[in-house]
Amino acid sequence: MWSEDLRMGARMGQVVGGPGALEAQLAKLAGGDLGPAGLIVRDAGVPEAVMAGVRAILAGGTVDVQEATVAGGEAAKSWPVIFSIYDAALGAGVARDGWFLAIGGGAVLDAAGFAAATFLRGIAWAAMPTTLLAQVDAAIGGKTAIDLPQGKNLVGAFHLPAWVALDPQVLESLPRREWRSGFGEVLKCGLLMGGRTWERVQEIPPGWEAPAEMVELAEASARHKCRVVAQDPYEAGERISLNLGHTVGHAWEQVSGYAGPRHGEAVGVGLLAALRMSEQVVHLDPAVRAAVHQALGRWGMPTRLPRDSHDGILRALARDKKLRAGALRWVLLRAPGDPVAMPVSMDIVEDALIGLEA
Ligand code: GLY
Repeated sequence: MWSEDLRMGARMGQVVGGPGALEAQLAKLAGGDLGPAGLIVRDAGVPEAVMAGVRAILAGGTVDVQEATVAGGEAAKSWPVIFSIYDAALGAGVARDGWFLAIGGGAVLDAAGFAAATFLRGIAWAAMPTTLLAQVDAAIGGKTAIDLPQGKNLVGAFHLPAWVALDPQVLESLPRREWRSGFGEVLKCGLLMGGRTWERVQEIPPGWEAPAEMVELAEASARHKCRVVAQDPYEAGERISLNLGHTVGHAWEQVSGYAGPRHGEAVGVGLLAALRMSEQVVHLDPAVRAAVHQALGRWGMPTRLPRDSHDGILRALARDKKLRAGALRWVLLRAPGDPVAMPVSMDIVEDALIGLEA
């Protein structure tokens, strides 16, 4: 097992990974480590067998626990779901010394974390991510959020979970599309880290063919994110690099009404857009984009934006820019392992988008 410590203001958090991480953390929770009463916020997509294991460990402890089930996917990041969590927490008698345990994919974790940040002005929470995407990205870092019709993650709070358990055993029954979605973030981490991780990410076979290899790379990605967040918890500097590929990726997700590409699939194409811009602006070697294109293809992931999508994406980006009240800063790559954040002129952005259309 491995672990990384994070701090956000007065809150300390631990990211614990490896087989058995979950049992170890749940045993502490069952003993009252985080408080005497809690609410499990369960993603409806989590297999019953996983839940049965969680319940069995908690039942052997001293804590009072109830469960609320939330439909997974982006729709979880909405006010009605947040209100339903508050309601269940009040019904379960969760007080200021209580906690939430979020179990599921990234969207449910984001929503449960935001509910924890705001319920009774903030209570403790812990996260048990059950998808590759959530294990390498969404569960780590303490940014919690819900969406507004105007865009993704527009209401939220920094609220570090007391612990996050990254247990590869829960990935065993992951559908292919979930492996793919996680791979988008792993690919991003390979580009940000450079060196051996970048080499491995280019070669790795699809996760459903070689899960053990993928789990190793996922650990490298998760630990990279932990290190970046530990240096810059509130995204004042280096943490923005983790947004590589996300500006176009989020805009594409938004214009498809969150019913099109999965997050990691959108990030994969967003990476291609960011790399195209990087070639123009900071002279990135085009071989890097060719390698990313090839890796996405090998995993059966999208490498193109839909035909005529650039106008809608540009409008979403303009809204993003307005909401940020200034120039949109793009994360570009000078070389694998060497990211830089800077504004990019709209004609270069548009060229990159048009060049990626089917
Ligand atoms: N919840 C994702 C992050 O903190 O980056």
